[in-house]
Amino acid sequence: MEPTAPDPPATARAPEPPDPAHLSRLEARRDMLRAEFARIFPAGARFVWEIGCGHGHFLTAYAAAHPAALCVGVDQDSFRVRRAVKKQASARLANLHFLRAEARLFLAALPPGVELAAVFILFPDPWPKRRHHKHRLLQADFFQALAERAGQGTPFYFRTDHGDYFREVEELLAAHPDWRIAPTAPWPFEEPTVFQQKAAAHHSLVALRR
Ligand SMILES: C[S@@+](CC[C@H](N)C(=O)[O-])C[C@H]1O[C@@H](n2cnc3c(N)ncnc32)[C@H](O)[C@@H]1O
Repeated sequence: MEPTAPDPPATARAPEPPDPAHLSRLEARRDMLRAEFARIFPAGARFVWEIGCGHGHFLTAYAAAHPAALCVGVDQDSFRVRRAVKKQASARLANLHFLRAEARLFLAALPPGVELAAVFILFPDPWPKRRHHKHRLLQADFFQALAERAGQGTPFYFRTDHGDYFREVEELLAAHPDWRIAPTAPWPFEEPTVFQQKAAAHHSLVALRR
């Protein structure tokens, strides 16, 4: 969510050496994710991925309406994921899983041969201040990492109420070698998320893996 930490000082600094404790926490998290993946993904699985699923409203409804689709929602906020897991349990949907995970780490830890069938990112944190734009998840390298796990034609669905973030992603995708914007592609499924319900208006975009 919106950061509260003060801005870093403007002076240039030499890059810090990797913190060994941080690296070992990351490795431990990767191992935990791999153990969860072994439970969730059969060999060669294709799955619908929601990034930043929050309380899981959207993906629970999507999974109920698409029983043949394996659906996985991730969020880095453990409280939200707990709420989402409760929804999955009360809906008794065997094709739906929610995990606490950071999106980049999740993608990097995916087993070989597991592929994205579709990707949703709905109302991602916009990091509105210019000096915080670097924290936005949707950047060129992230789209490249997604493309490496997507087959030709895999759709990417993006929705936000933040006009500036929307335009930035639109420009990024228009210039990206791995993705093309599909202006006439329909939005496949409607179920308002928590943030959508609070938004006065929103923008939606569909892009396809080339
Ligand atoms: C603005 S909320 C939107 C939640 C939900 N999609 C909705 O529309 O109600 C953004 C969500 O993305 C999650 N998030 C932000 N960065 C993330 C990342 N790198 N990996 C996983 N989740 C992330 C946050 O924890 C938060 O729950």
